[in-house]
Amino acid sequence: MTSSLTPPFLPDVIALEEKLEVPLYRKRSFALAHGQGARVWDIDGNSYIDCISGHGVAVVGHCHPQVVQAITYQAQELITCQESFANPARALFLSRLSQVMPPELSRFFLCNSGTEAVEAALKFARVATGRTEIIAATRAFHGRTMGALSATWRPQYRDAFQPLVPGFSHVPFNNIEALEKAVGENTAAVILEPVQGEGGVYPADPGYLKQVKEITHSQGALLILDEVQTGCGRTGHFLAAEHYQITPDIVCLAKGIGGGLPLGVVAVSEKIAAALAPGLHASTFGGNPLACAAGAAVLQIIEQEQLSPRAAHLGTWFVEEIKKLALPAVRNIRSLGLMIGLELRFRCAPYLTALEQQRVLALAAGPQVVRLLPPLVITQEELEQVLAALAIVLGEQK
Ligand SMILES: Cc1ncc(COP(=O)(O)O)c(C=O)c1O
Repeated sequence: MTSSLTPPFLPDVIALEEKLEVPLYRKRSFALAHGQGARVWDIDGNSYIDCISGHGVAVVGHCHPQVVQAITYQAQELITCQESFANPARALFLSRLSQVMPPELSRFFLCNSGTEAVEAALKFARVATGRTEIIAATRAFHGRTMGALSATWRPQYRDAFQPLVPGFSHVPFNNIEALEKAVGENTAAVILEPVQGEGGVYPADPGYLKQVKEITHSQGALLILDEVQTGCGRTGHFLAAEHYQITPDIVCLAKGIGGGLPLGVVAVSEKIAAALAPGLHASTFGGNPLACAAGAAVLQIIEQEQLSPRAAHLGTWFVEEIKKLALPAVRNIRSLGLMIGLELRFRCAPYLTALEQQRVLALAAGPQVVRLLPPLVITQEELEQVLAALAIVLGEQK
C-alpha cells in the first residue's frame, strides 16, 4: 500500500535507527510504513494483522478516516495553543470526554502520555489529602518517570534508578488482607490497574476493587485507577472500572485516547479539583489542539462504532475459539474484552518471532505471556486469521 505522498524510504531504516538512537529499544527485523484499520504494512509491502497496536494505542485502528480528517483540519487551523488560552478543539474534546466519564469525575487535566498522567495523579492525590504515602501492587506498571516508576514494581525497571521517590510500597495484587494492613493514616492513595497489563494480563478479582475503595475511603485515602491500557473501550466498557461497578477518585487515561497522537488525561472529582490552583502543575504541550482534535474524533468513533460492546463480544468469542484449539504451549489464558494474555509453558520470545512469520504482530507481557491488544475495529475474519496463526505457532514446542 503506497501513495503518491509516500516519502522516499532511506535504504537502511533499521540500521540507521539502531546507530543513531540510544540503545533502549530492541528493534524488530522489519520497519513499518503504513497502517489501516487492524493492518500494518512493512516497507517492503508485506501486510500484518496488528495485535500490538502501538502498545495498545490504536484502539480505533490505524489511520481511521475521521481521525485523519480531524488532524488534517486542525493542522491547518492551529497546532499549538497553551492552556492559558481556551481553544475550540480542546473544548470539544473535554465536552465529549465528560459525556463518557462517570459524572463524579467531572474535571480533567490534559497531558501527553501515560506516565505523565500517573505522575500528575500522584501529585494531585498528595495535595488533596495532605499525605505522602502511595500504595501500589506487585506486578504493577505505571510508567517510567520517577514518580510513576516508584509505583511500578519490576526491579528490572527500578533498580538502576534508586533511590526512587520515598513513601511508595507494594502489596500483592488481589489480596485484600494485605491491602487492609498497608493502608493507614499517612496513605494518600492506592494506585491500581484494573487489569494488570505489562505485569502479565491479570484482571482484578470480582469484588476486589470495591473493597479497595471502601478501605481507602475508611482511612481518608484516595483510589487512583490507572486505565492507561484498559481504558477507551479495550476491556468491553469505556473504563474497565465499569466491570467492577465502582467509580474511583482519580482515573488516568492515555494510549488509545489520542488516536495515535500523544495525549494523556487525569480525571478527578470536583472535590479534588478544588485542592488544585493555578501554577501547581502544568504542561507545555498539555491540551495541544492537534492531539485534542484527534481525541475528540476517537471519542466519537468509539460511540458511533460501538467499540466497547464490540470489544466485549469479539473478545469473548475469540478466547472461546483459542480454548477450543487446546494449544499445547499455552498454560493459561487471562483476558477482559480485547485485552488478552496467553501464558505459555515456555519463554514467549521465539513464539512472537514465529507469529511475525505468520504475519501476526503480538507483544510480550513478562517473559512467558503473549499479549494481544488488537484494534477494537478488528474484524472477525482478521481474528480468524490470528487464530490460524496461533494454531500453527503455539501448536508446537519451540
Ligand atoms: C497501565 C499503564 N500505565 C502507564 C503506562 C505508561 O504509559 P506511557 O508509556 O505512555 O508513558 C503504561 C504503558 O504501557 C501502562 O500500561
